[in-house]
Amino acid sequence: MIRFENVTKVLGNRAVLDGIDFEVGPGETFVIVGLSGAGKSVTLKHMIRLMQPDAGRIVIDGEDINQLGRNGLRQARAKFGVLFQGAALLQWMSVRDNVALPLREHTKLPDDEILRRVDQKLELLSLDDAGDKFPSDISGGMQKRAGLARAIIMDPQIVLYDEPTSGLDPVTSRRIDDLIVNMRERLGITSVVVTHDLHSALAIGSRIMMLHEGRIVENAPPEGFIRSKDPTVQSFLESQYITKKGKWEGMGHE
Ligand SMILES: Nc1ncnc2c1ncn2[C@@H]1O[C@H](COP(=O)(O)OP(=O)(O)O)[C@@H](O)[C@H]1O
Ligand SMILES: [Mg+2]
Repeated sequence: MIRFENVTKVLGNRAVLDGIDFEVGPGETFVIVGLSGAGKSVTLKHMIRLMQPDAGRIVIDGEDINQLGRNGLRQARAKFGVLFQGAALLQWMSVRDNVALPLREHTKLPDDEILRRVDQKLELLSLDDAGDKFPSDISGGMQKRAGLARAIIMDPQIVLYDEPTSGLDPVTSRRIDDLIVNMRERLGITSVVVTHDLHSALAIGSRIMMLHEGRIVENAPPEGFIRSKDPTVQSFLESQYITKKGKWEGMGHE
């Protein structure tokens, strides 16, 4: 579905991605972790050609996304919904109008059909009562959910999430994790999630890939990831108090 082949991207004078190869299959919840500045967001941006590689290919459903013309690119991008870091809701519009925006911009559907689809997504994300409210009048967790409703309003096959739980309290973060899993279970959506929260990664990931200094240091299912022999992975796990059994260390509640 998504394949990176030997992708290199130089930014400043550093290879932020240094010949990386990986694949995301349909139905996966593929999680990308790494320290700040590791190239996680840059990797996501390549998937929808917001950035282009200096070498290598990004292949979406068999097509090199950087070889597509205007129409082909539009079709390729339509497969994706994105919930980017700080991709804020427009403050002067109600939640309902925010979620409706992509449908109003990219389709010619009549407004009653648009509103029907919007309300369906709001219900799916337990935002039934928030439609008339403005973003500043709802909690951070609800804002993320509204952003997710907007990201999936065009019924994408793949959703890209950049740090979906950053800035949220732990309880709200776990709710967002549940929702990401829900997107796959209920809608069959493939997810690519960038996070530095390993607890989240281990809870939701079908595979976890760690980037470090331009390279992939691990790419494995959660059980394999926590047993990684790579010292960078091990110190990343330890920094978040995760032992090889995947349990919290030293908290007294085994
Ligand atoms: N548009 C850009 N121009 C120059 N450097 C950039 C650009 N975008 C990202 N970088 C650099 O690339 C590196 C990786 O960035 P990023 O992918 O945003 O990291 P993260 O893993 O924290 O998401 C950082 O050193 C960042 O400063
Ligand atoms: Mg980032």
